[in-house]
Amino acid sequence: MMENALEDRDAVGVSDAVLLDDPNDTAAFIENLRKRFRGDLIYTYIGPVLISVNPYRNLPIYGLDYEKKYYNVNFIEVAPHVYGLTDNAYKQLREENRDQCILISGESGSGKTEASKWILRYIAAASKHIASVETTKEKLLQSNPVLEAFGNAQTNRNDNSSRFGKYMDIEFDFRGSPVGGHIINYLLEKSRVIYQAKGDRNFHIFYQMLAGVDESTLTKLKLQRSPVKYHYLNQGEVRTPGQDDAKQYQVVRDAMNTVGFGEDDQEEIFQIIAAILHLGQIDFKHEGNYAKVLSHDIVKIVAQLLGCSPDKLSKAFLHRTIEARGEFVTSPLTYEQCMYARDALAKAVYDRLFTWLVTKLNQSLEPDYDGKKTLMGILDIYGFEIFEKNSFEQFCINYCNEKLQQLFIELTLKSEQEEYRKEGIQWEDVDYFNNKVICDLVEEKHKGIIALMDEECLRPGDPTDFTMLEKMDRSLSTHPHYLSHKLANTSVRKSLTRDEFRLLHYAGEVTYKVHGFLDKNNDLLFRDLREAMTTSKQKILQTIFPASELNQKKRPATAATQFKTSLNQLMEILMSKEPSYIRCIKPNDFKKAGVFDLEIVGHQVKYLGLMENLRVRRAGFAYRRPYETFLLRYKSLCPQTWPHYDGPAERGVEIIMKHLGYNQDHFRMGKTKIFIRHAQTLFAIEDAFQERKKQLVSKIKAIWRGRRQRKEYLRMRFQVIFVQKYIKRFLAVRQFKKRKWASNVVRDFIKGFMARNADPCEANAKFLQFVRYRFLMKLSQSLPNVILRHDRLWPDSPPAARAASTLLCKMHRRQIVRKYVRGLSAERKRQLEMKYLAHELFKGKKATYEASVRNYFVDCRPDDVRNRIGMIETNIKNSGERLVYCTAVTKYDRHGYKPRERILTVSNAAVYLHDAKDMKLKHKIFLNELKGITITNMGDGLLVFRTPPENKQLKGDLIVNCPHVIEAVTKIIDTAAQNKSLLTIVPPGEVQHHLNGGKQGIIEIKKSDTDITAIAKKNGHLIVMTSC
Ligand SMILES: Nc1ncnc2c1ncn2[C@@H]1O[C@H](COP(=O)(O)OP(=O)(O)O)[C@@H](O)[C@H]1O
Ligand SMILES: [Mg+2]
Repeated sequence: MMENALEDRDAVGVSDAVLLDDPNDTAAFIENLRKRFRGDLIYTYIGPVLISVNPYRNLPIYGLDYEKKYYNVNFIEVAPHVYGLTDNAYKQLREENRDQCILISGESGSGKTEASKWILRYIAAASKHIASVETTKEKLLQSNPVLEAFGNAQTNRNDNSSRFGKYMDIEFDFRGSPVGGHIINYLLEKSRVIYQAKGDRNFHIFYQMLAGVDESTLTKLKLQRSPVKYHYLNQGEVRTPGQDDAKQYQVVRDAMNTVGFGEDDQEEIFQIIAAILHLGQIDFKHEGNYAKVLSHDIVKIVAQLLGCSPDKLSKAFLHRTIEARGEFVTSPLTYEQCMYARDALAKAVYDRLFTWLVTKLNQSLEPDYDGKKTLMGILDIYGFEIFEKNSFEQFCINYCNEKLQQLFIELTLKSEQEEYRKEGIQWEDVDYFNNKVICDLVEEKHKGIIALMDEECLRPGDPTDFTMLEKMDRSLSTHPHYLSHKLANTSVRKSLTRDEFRLLHYAGEVTYKVHGFLDKNNDLLFRDLREAMTTSKQKILQTIFPASELNQKKRPATAATQFKTSLNQLMEILMSKEPSYIRCIKPNDFKKAGVFDLEIVGHQVKYLGLMENLRVRRAGFAYRRPYETFLLRYKSLCPQTWPHYDGPAERGVEIIMKHLGYNQDHFRMGKTKIFIRHAQTLFAIEDAFQERKKQLVSKIKAIWRGRRQRKEYLRMRFQVIFVQKYIKRFLAVRQFKKRKWASNVVRDFIKGFMARNADPCEANAKFLQFVRYRFLMKLSQSLPNVILRHDRLWPDSPPAARAASTLLCKMHRRQIVRKYVRGLSAERKRQLEMKYLAHELFKGKKATYEASVRNYFVDCRPDDVRNRIGMIETNIKNSGERLVYCTAVTKYDRHGYKPRERILTVSNAAVYLHDAKDMKLKHKIFLNELKGITITNMGDGLLVFRTPPENKQLKGDLIVNCPHVIEAVTKIIDTAAQNKSLLTIVPPGEVQHHLNGGKQGIIEIKKSDTDITAIAKKNGHLIVMTSC
């Protein structure tokens, strides 16, 4: 820390005041505190002592992050903090088994109690989280709200001022876990129960109870909500409470539950608190020389709440019984005495209740652990107080602070100087004000103020505060730190009234009013009231007012003496432990954040002896560090020690200092530490270090970046390889599987191939399937699209697909045909029908058939005939027939075979022959009369119409030569109802034809070399010659 913060010392001051230039310059010291305060740095060190300036507002410096930051570190390496100091003490406790104590001092409102709470909190957080100690921790933490409710009050200076001294021991087991605790309380300011100065309140608990309890409890306790109603609560006239009482009430009740107060206890506690409030309302009236109770009802309520008899209580208020030489004498009280008795009871009950609470807390914190315990004490005790009117309480408090200052001197200033001696450093003692003389003034046996006060208290006769003052004046007249009106010189006397005395405390002058000193010291509660209390049925009251008390012969010690005794015990406790100091400073008197009042701080700096502290720390040597620490930090400044130095640290440090050019004037070598005389020297070293650090940082950065890049590269490489490995594996597995599959397929294929001709079986099933598949695929690509030669074009099929192939072939052909047929026009269909008919009639039977196939049949031959036969067509139509066919032919007479040119016409009913020239009808044969048609199987055009002999008109069969005999015959047979039996085809040879009157002619059909027919008449036959 310290060295780290050296960097920005201008902005936020130095974190250790020993680094300031001039240890005598108070202004610079305070300025440093102020700079830091402005930057919210409320903590500063003077060596190991922590200075804390109250920020009066919550700073974000106590969270978990801070708890972690300070855990187990070297406290000088981190910024000053109460956690740092605590951690250091806690570490020593754990590691060296040494009891510790943390002494927190400072004025009221300077932040002591808060500091003590942070300490406790840090310990709870830093210690191991073991189930068995969690409850202890919780109880330790929760004891605070309870104690604060009953022992703290709102004052002018502090909204939560501790009105009692508190020393708390936390007990640790061998592991450093808190296992228990013990609290010692010191001198509760009980006068506050009955009286509060302007701006002050009574103890918190009264207000908390009134604000927080529910209606029914309030009624049961016979209370009213408003605190203004109660005499004991309204004297300070505080209008705005510094805390939320109702909320706090709940916090306190929760805490009570945690630390182990039973329901009964809590009920009784609040009954007692209520009873005290009612006590303040009791009034008396004068009756002659004596007094009478005015408010009997209230006495009844009090008695009821305290569990005692109202009569007895009434009586006790009005009487006083004194035991003198074994006899009891009771006498009535005056009005003033009654009021005194009433208040005394209130104070006594509250005070004892408070002590009982502490006892109860201690029972609850009692460790359950038998082993050796180490202790950490935290002392949070009231700070030095200077009020306008200072009374007995301030006297005690300030005395306490004198004692603590003494302890501080003993342990800090003295020990500092001892360190030099121990380290063998030549040393001249520094002067500091030793306040032992004031402690003696107060506590010295027989001569001190307390002794004198006690003496006066016990003196027979009528001692008063004034007789006490006289006595002190007599005895202390020469004491340099004591002053009174009587002893003062004229100039000072003005500032003192006759009922005052003044002590010159180490922290300043305080003027005390003697009024009430004796009473308070006597701390008297009349026997009658004590007796009344001992009869209570309440458990708590029975405990705090034990009956045995009445029988005690010996007078109890006075309040001051008791306090002195307990303080001295405390000093012993503290002396036996390793101390750490927190010096609290409040920056202003108004509980305000951000205000740093130089005068007020200056005053505290003075009386806390901080400058002396600093001077001793600094005298000659501003800075010291163990050799190891110093070497570790600055070894980079010298090539011989960087990066490693193997020799002894001391030697290493010396080498560095020499290297930097320093000599005996600048530093000294102690036994374990180096002592540097001036802060400037350290700063120079530090600056050099910062410079060096920058260089090193950039070097380290470069190397580190390189390493990081390489690391990143290696990481990526590793990842890539990793991924690659998996992918390779994946691919390899996949390929292997593929190969295996493939080899199986190939093997199966070969097996299938070998068994391809066997009956279908498992071995060839797949193969055949494949073959079929292949065939079908091939087929789909190569289907023939013609009907002719369809079978031949159909691809060959393997045996396995043969059946399917055959079926498919058939189906396909049909399909083509079907498609073809569907696509035919009516005319073409007709044409084909005729061709088919011709096929049936002539295929293989007539030589010219093949040649005729490729020519379409026509209706008229040659074409021009049609133009000529208009008449014939008309006649046919007129006789109700339809012209089917006409062609030019040659007709041979039946006698002499003379050729004549004729037109052959076919209607749906008859065949006609007309003269080709004049178109006269020559013959008409009704189709139904036609007996037959004869042709040859040769290439000739001979065509013989067989006529019925009974039709004389026809004069026998008609012989014609028709150039397109196939066409003509087909047309005729088609028209004659396709009666194929009409046709007769004859081979070459002789064919007869009938003539009228049963006669016959012969037609000779001959094959000859010379082509085509010639009609020759020879032996009366018609000769037909044909070359084919
Ligand atoms: N470290 C702190 N952070 C924030 N506020 C603080 C701190 N210390 C003290 N205070 C404020 O100052 C008030 C008085 O502190 P306290 O510890 O009660 O004083 P002391 O015990 O010295 O009389 C607290 O109630 C709180 O408001
Ligand atoms: Mg306090």
